[in-house]
Amino acid sequence: MTRSSPSLSSTSIPNIDRNSKLHIKASEIADLFVLENGFLQKAVDQYNIQALEGLAKHTERGLPMIPSYVSDTPTGKEVGTFLALDLGGTNFRVCSVELHGNSTYSIVQKKTTVPDSIMKSTLHEFINYLADRVQEFLNEYHASFLQECKKDSSHKPLKVGFTFSFPVNQTHINRGTLIRWTKGYDIKDAVGKDIPLALQQELDKRNLHVFIAAVVNDTVGTLMSRAYTKPSNCGDTVIGCIFGTGTNGAYSEPLVNITKFDRSAAPEVKSDEMIINTEWGSFDNDLKILPNNKYDNQVNLNTRNPGFHMFEKRVSGMFLGELLRLCMVDLHSQGLLFTSPEAKAELFTTEGNINNQSDLFTPWSMNTAVPAVFHSDNTPDLSPSAKHISRHLQFTPTLEELVSIQLIARSIGKRAAAMAAIPLAGAIIHTRALEKHEKVDIGADGSVVENYPYFQEMIREALAQTSLGPKGVERITLGIAKDGSGVGAALCALEAKEYH
Ligand code: GLC
Repeated sequence: MTRSSPSLSSTSIPNIDRNSKLHIKASEIADLFVLENGFLQKAVDQYNIQALEGLAKHTERGLPMIPSYVSDTPTGKEVGTFLALDLGGTNFRVCSVELHGNSTYSIVQKKTTVPDSIMKSTLHEFINYLADRVQEFLNEYHASFLQECKKDSSHKPLKVGFTFSFPVNQTHINRGTLIRWTKGYDIKDAVGKDIPLALQQELDKRNLHVFIAAVVNDTVGTLMSRAYTKPSNCGDTVIGCIFGTGTNGAYSEPLVNITKFDRSAAPEVKSDEMIINTEWGSFDNDLKILPNNKYDNQVNLNTRNPGFHMFEKRVSGMFLGELLRLCMVDLHSQGLLFTSPEAKAELFTTEGNINNQSDLFTPWSMNTAVPAVFHSDNTPDLSPSAKHISRHLQFTPTLEELVSIQLIARSIGKRAAAMAAIPLAGAIIHTRALEKHEKVDIGADGSVVENYPYFQEMIREALAQTSLGPKGVERITLGIAKDGSGVGAALCALEAKEYH
């Protein structure tokens, strides 16, 4: 594969010495992120092998392929008011969602950043943190509802769709135990526990009169919300996916193929299909096929879930800035990068030791915005990139340094987008979607797919290199599905027919 994106103009190439040691070394590092020819289709085949294994049985390291207990995709005509809770990564949102029944909705929401101390606290503290936020929201936006419930204890509770975007082994539409944490969370005593049940019990204790009717992965919500809101000229929505802090996807599978699913234990399931939360972040945890260079290895070792979600660690937003930081640290340790007096004064202490306070040496200090800014920067002096990175480094790198960083950033971004195509192509091929539908639609959400420059174009380019081919890709739309975790969760709560 070539390294630069087709959409990047090559009219304003910065004028620097391409034979310098720095430039040569940076090119070598960038090459470590280039996928071999033919890799994509091999990976798609491997993805489908692992997906079939996941549908047959649950193993600790395999693809989870979790039955969601959600079956019906919406028509756009659904109506009602619901509460949606959304815990996906750094933020917790509480929303009130009103479905208008004409593919539109309105939403009122309150978002808080989950403190790092809560992300590694205890189940008790974590649940109380969530319940506090729900209580605040209800007091602010549903005070009259709470009053009515006080007067009449038989008042119908408010139905809640709880988007909990971590691997959960679902046992019912509103029940499920946490398999493991991802995306930086590490609340040890929560693993194996029924999180929606624990939250429901806490909300009941507080007499809040809400009923968690559905626990939903964000990808399932995205699939539902895209099906509800998509423009009529798009095809049938077959995949809901997230490329944000983490990555994952959901699609619908005939129950007969989910051989690990015991239908007799779930009499409430009436449909012959069920949406599967693949947890594709865990594709190829054993690295049978995924590329694994020394920076990938380092990132993995620095995570709170080493050895798991290995696909995610090459593709999603939590990791791309960290990969780039590690490459810069490597070039710096070889005395090739950030060698100006200004840089040295910032990166070393007066005793000549490394300045641990610098973002350069602080794990996870740089998010995906850093490679994203470099990726799209076509100016001859790379001034937007310089401005952005100097906020992290407290000095301005030289043009030659900026060009080297850009080379690597683009390679990391391009690999991420190309790899994002693997499970998408896998699911389209496995479900024979192009044979069944004239047009196939993918609903996507997340900061990377929305904001990383050219990410969608690069995905499409990679899809065309699989057996779907350019002709197949012409029949596929990839559309941003806004707010799957809010609207989608509301739609799942609506689908759950019962109260308690
Ligand atoms: C992580 C979670 C998964 C979620 C994804 C996107 O991969 O394990 O449940 O869907 O991030 O938020």
